[in-house]
Amino acid sequence: MKHLLGLRDLSKEEILKILNLAKDMKLILKSETKKTPHLQGYSVVTLFYENSTRTRTSFELAAKFMSANTTSISVATSSVQKGESLLDTVRTLEALKTDVLIVRHSVSGAAHFIAKNCSFSVINAGDGMNEHPTQALLDMFTIRERLGKLEKLKIAIIGDILHSRVARSNIWGLKKFENEVTVYGPRTLLPPFIDKFVNVASSLEEAVCNKDVVIDLRIQLERQKRGLISSKYEYYEFFGLNEDISKFISKDTLIMHPGPVNRGVEISSEIMNLPNCTIEEQVTNGIAVRMAVLYLCTRKEVN
Ligand code: CP
Repeated sequence: MKHLLGLRDLSKEEILKILNLAKDMKLILKSETKKTPHLQGYSVVTLFYENSTRTRTSFELAAKFMSANTTSISVATSSVQKGESLLDTVRTLEALKTDVLIVRHSVSGAAHFIAKNCSFSVINAGDGMNEHPTQALLDMFTIRERLGKLEKLKIAIIGDILHSRVARSNIWGLKKFENEVTVYGPRTLLPPFIDKFVNVASSLEEAVCNKDVVIDLRIQLERQKRGLISSKYEYYEFFGLNEDISKFISKDTLIMHPGPVNRGVEISSEIMNLPNCTIEEQVTNGIAVRMAVLYLCTRKEVN
C-alpha cells in the first residue's frame, strides 16, 4: 500500500490488515516509552488546507511515536497565501525530500491529484465531501473493539450526510463487511440517490431503534452556504440526539461521533456522557490506526 486515498477502493482484506496492525500499535502505545523505530529516517509532512485538531494532532503523534522526522505546514502562513498552486506546493515538498504527505483539502479528489503527481506516499486526511478514510478506519476499529465484531451489524448514520466525507468513507468501509447501514437526516442534507446504496429511515426514532451502532455527524456549518438547515435550534429538536430520542436508543447501542461536536445542535451533553458514547475513545484509537497506516504506507516489502 503506497497511498491511502479512500476506503472505496480498498478490499475487506486490506481494511482488516490495517485494523489488525492497529491493535498491535495500541499495545505499543500502552508501553512505557510509546516508541517504535519503524519510521526512523522518514520525513512525514502534514499539509492541512482546512482546520483540524484530532486528525492532524494524532497523525503527528503517530509519526513521532514511530521515530519519524515530522513537519507541519501551516497553510495560513505558507506560500499558498502568495498564490502558490497545489501542484507547485507538491513539487516543493518533493524537492524537500518528503517521504509521506498527510493532506486535507476542501476539494474532493485533491489527495488523488497529488498522488498522481508525486513520488512520495499520500495519505488523505479528508478531501472535500469525498472521503476521510482514517476516520472511518478508527470508527471501524472502535466498533470491533467494543462489540467484538465488525460484520452483519445494524448501523445508523445520522445528520448531514450530504457534506460528510466521514459518512462516505464509513458507508464504503462498513458495506464491505455486510453491515446493514441506514441513514437519516433533513432531506436537504441527504445526497441524491443515497437510497441506492443504503436504507433511508423515515424518522429519527426508526433510525436509532434496534441499532448496534449510531454514528452521529457534525452539522458542517462552514458548508451550509445555501441555507440547507433553517436553524440550529430546530435541527436539535428534530434531528439532534437529545433527551426525547434517548429513550429509543438501547444502552447497548454504541453512540459515536467523529468530532468536533456542536453540543446542543446534533447531540446533547447528557448523551455525550453516557458510557456507551465512544467519542473520546475514537480519538484515542485514531493514534493507533494512523500508526498502522503510516507503517503500511512506508513498507516497500509489503506493497
Ligand atoms: N474528526 C475529525 O476529522 O476531526 P478534526 O477536524 O479535528 O481533525
